[in-house]
Amino acid sequence: MAGGKAKEIEKEIEKEARISEAEVAVHWGEEEYIEPPEEIKRQAYVTDPTFREKFKEENFPECFHIYADLLDWDRYWHTTLDTSNPPFWKWFVGGKLNACYNCVDRHLKKYGNKAAIIWVPEPEDEPKRVLTYYDLYYQVNVVASVLQSLGLKAGDTVTLYMPMVPELPITMLACARLGIIHSQVFSGFSGPACAERIIDAESKVLITIDGYWRNGKWIDHKKNADIAVNVAAERGHKVEKVLIWQRYRDRYNSESKPIEGRDFLMKDLLKEHRGKKVPYVPMPAEAPLFIMYTSGSTGKPKGCVHSIGGYLAYVAGTCKYIHDIHPEDIHWCMADIGWITGHSYIVYGPLALGATVLIYEGVPTYPDPDRPWRIAERYGVTILHTAPTAIRLLKKLGSDPSKYDYKFRILVTVGEPIEPEVWRWYYTAVGKKQAVVLDTWWQTETGGWLCAHLPGVEPMKLGSTGPGALGIYPVIYDENGNEIPPGSGKAGYICIKNPWPGRMLTIWKNPERMIKGYYEKFCKNKESKDWRDWPYIAGDAATCDKRGYFRILGRMDDIINVAGHRLGTKEIESAALTVEGVAEAAVVPKIDELKGHVPDLYISLKDGYEPSPEIAEKVKMAVRNIIGPIATPAHVYIVPDMPKTRSGKIMRRVLACISNGRKDFGDLTTLIDPSIVEKIWEIVHGEG
Ligand code: WT7
Repeated sequence: MAGGKAKEIEKEIEKEARISEAEVAVHWGEEEYIEPPEEIKRQAYVTDPTFREKFKEENFPECFHIYADLLDWDRYWHTTLDTSNPPFWKWFVGGKLNACYNCVDRHLKKYGNKAAIIWVPEPEDEPKRVLTYYDLYYQVNVVASVLQSLGLKAGDTVTLYMPMVPELPITMLACARLGIIHSQVFSGFSGPACAERIIDAESKVLITIDGYWRNGKWIDHKKNADIAVNVAAERGHKVEKVLIWQRYRDRYNSESKPIEGRDFLMKDLLKEHRGKKVPYVPMPAEAPLFIMYTSGSTGKPKGCVHSIGGYLAYVAGTCKYIHDIHPEDIHWCMADIGWITGHSYIVYGPLALGATVLIYEGVPTYPDPDRPWRIAERYGVTILHTAPTAIRLLKKLGSDPSKYDYKFRILVTVGEPIEPEVWRWYYTAVGKKQAVVLDTWWQTETGGWLCAHLPGVEPMKLGSTGPGALGIYPVIYDENGNEIPPGSGKAGYICIKNPWPGRMLTIWKNPERMIKGYYEKFCKNKESKDWRDWPYIAGDAATCDKRGYFRILGRMDDIINVAGHRLGTKEIESAALTVEGVAEAAVVPKIDELKGHVPDLYISLKDGYEPSPEIAEKVKMAVRNIIGPIATPAHVYIVPDMPKTRSGKIMRRVLACISNGRKDFGDLTTLIDPSIVEKIWEIVHGEG
């Protein structure tokens, strides 16, 4: 009894100590529904309003045949869903297939000379590059041959550290052809952040590039790759080979020269393997396709492992029936391939359907905020896929789509909640009221969309994501696991009642973390083999309206979503603590007009250190160098002490209030020194 009570108090304190995005979320009222334009109602793959019924609960899990049958299988599966070891579900058991074959080879007959990838460089005077499915097939084979010659084989891991160039999907697909597990690290991450992911994945080979263009600047990326390899070596992990692509075929453009014996230019290797064909390796459906690292609530990123069969079926299925990508579409997703959105909705999903994807190297605001519409006009883009942060920025910079002649059918938004006024601009100015805005909610862990409406038959709801995606049954639980009924207006934990094929297989080398992070809290019976007892916990807060449309409020845990990028608060705090003199660090989400949230960092100093702008700057740079520019705190405030509870926990909730200019601190009686709150307020907002 006593132990239980103590635990409860501990929990309370823990709750006080952390602050979630959902708690600082801006609430907007009930917003209207908008019917899809008539043209889309006619053209969409799904025009039958009863289509959703195929995926109703009674048909689960067999309903996912519809997705899996979009793929070519070397051996058909015998069991759709194996739940014998919850929550490590296995989909399409007994089946064998190859992801590269499905995304490339099988399209040659029908679409061989159709564009698979249109690559648009950031410098506007540089010509585009088009790869047909034949080109892709040819190049993927040569790269696969190179990988094979290095002794890499199915089940090995390789880390890719590459920007938005066609060589990235080529390399990913070459890995997939051989069953090699790729782990692509976002090129905007720092060298040390990349090192951490190389070590965790135990990759012996790193594939990178000399440099690339971003926002008008040449980024010398090989330098970052060197840092990654060196940091890994310092921590006892040897990267044996580094393969380097060149942004320009005829020159190597990095200050960091290739290191004899370790570094190899892809250009030279490709020459040796020119014209080679490599048979694809049929892989078990439940084998890993790739690892994608994401931030969690501890300092260490989690490696989400995605499967070949379930994942590919899920992304192909959502791309066809929800995203509504047709072979004649030009699909442009602005996300970086280094994030899950790029893996699922630039590379694997669209290519599995034989679509044409446009890949743009740079930022949408370069050289001016009309660039996206010039690209759309010039290449006939029909589907645009981006994040609210990009839309907000373009809108703010005075981007004017009306000057350009293009026509979108589908406008996807993903990554953060989209405010009604931003939604309206996306729909009216960007979409010219001819396109459907599709707000898609999901996560790195989930492989593909969890909530989205069917664009041809269901209305959009401004500022809300849709109902559960096909075959997905979301539910909202309160703190104690009781269901909050739709239409009640109350927020709670959004969970998914059932398994689905896109969910990660596990966390790389840490399966326990999957149970703890996503299932433990609301698991009804840990002994049970019935999936109904194992709801998936997304970690977001949401409300659900009467019609079953969900509105996501933000994370409920120690994660901050900055401009659609997910950052762990502990990662940022640990980076700050590496600076000499820093005693304590606490980071909180501050609402930001452009980025959704930005991290505000509070630090206190050890005895003998005086607050100075230099220390604040050092802390900023430390976070930037250890994680990457996206994590850079908006502000670093040096405070005399943290608002702390008697048990010594920092009350981040109070700091979040201060950052967001709010004085509704709530109960401050548990603080050791309540007067500190006023002092910190003055530091942040000035006196008065
Ligand atoms: C978190 C997942 C998977 C796509 C990119 C981000 C937030 C995602 C939405 C949306 C409101 C959203 C959630 C989620 N999020 N989509 N449509 N509306 N919030 O992937 O880095 O794994 O982050 O992004 O908070 O948990 P991620």
